[in-house]
Amino acid sequence: KRVAILVSGGGSNMVSLVDSMTGDHPARPCLVLSNDALAGGLKKAAGRGIPTAAVDHRPFKGDRAAFEAELLKPLQDAKPDIVCLAGFMRVLTGDFVSRFQGRMLNIHPSLLPKYKGLHTHARAIEAGDADHGCTVHEVTAALDDGPILGQARVHIEAGDTPEDLAARVLLWEHKLYPAVLRRFAEGNKTPVLLP
Ligand code: GRF
Repeated sequence: KRVAILVSGGGSNMVSLVDSMTGDHPARPCLVLSNDALAGGLKKAAGRGIPTAAVDHRPFKGDRAAFEAELLKPLQDAKPDIVCLAGFMRVLTGDFVSRFQGRMLNIHPSLLPKYKGLHTHARAIEAGDADHGCTVHEVTAALDDGPILGQARVHIEAGDTPEDLAARVLLWEHKLYPAVLRRFAEGNKTPVLLP
């Protein structure tokens, strides 16, 4: 199975996914694509010999369709079987997503359906939640929605800042996403629940 990974920043989730696709794993990375030509994830991917591409979203301003038409070119050329959004920070339209329906995954730093959108760690602390975590889900037209394929749960400790919590959740993202990708690539949609 060919896996394309979309990143916007440092790409730590991409690295975890790429480094998991070895040996008898049924998938291999075929492209790392970003909306930012300077994204640290692109350098890390290139260092691992993975083809990369970037389509800067800024020249397209509000014209999301035009940006996505450009983004689609390297993505379709890579002929992915699975597309993983990994720290990809642009909202994708239903039209774009529909081209990969059922084979596009995303990781979101909350226990969905709680805290869709941004600033999830601060919101969980603010709400006084005992637990927080991350979710891998199939991408649908609705933001941070779609069938849940895995979750990792962490406790919120007294005195946690959003940064403390984000760092702890990120470590679990790096465990959860590779586990979900392997199952998904094997055709198994049984949710992965960690720890
Ligand atoms: C992190 O905040 C992570 O929680 C979310 O995307 C951000 C960057 O992740 N999934 P990465 O290091 O670029 O994978």
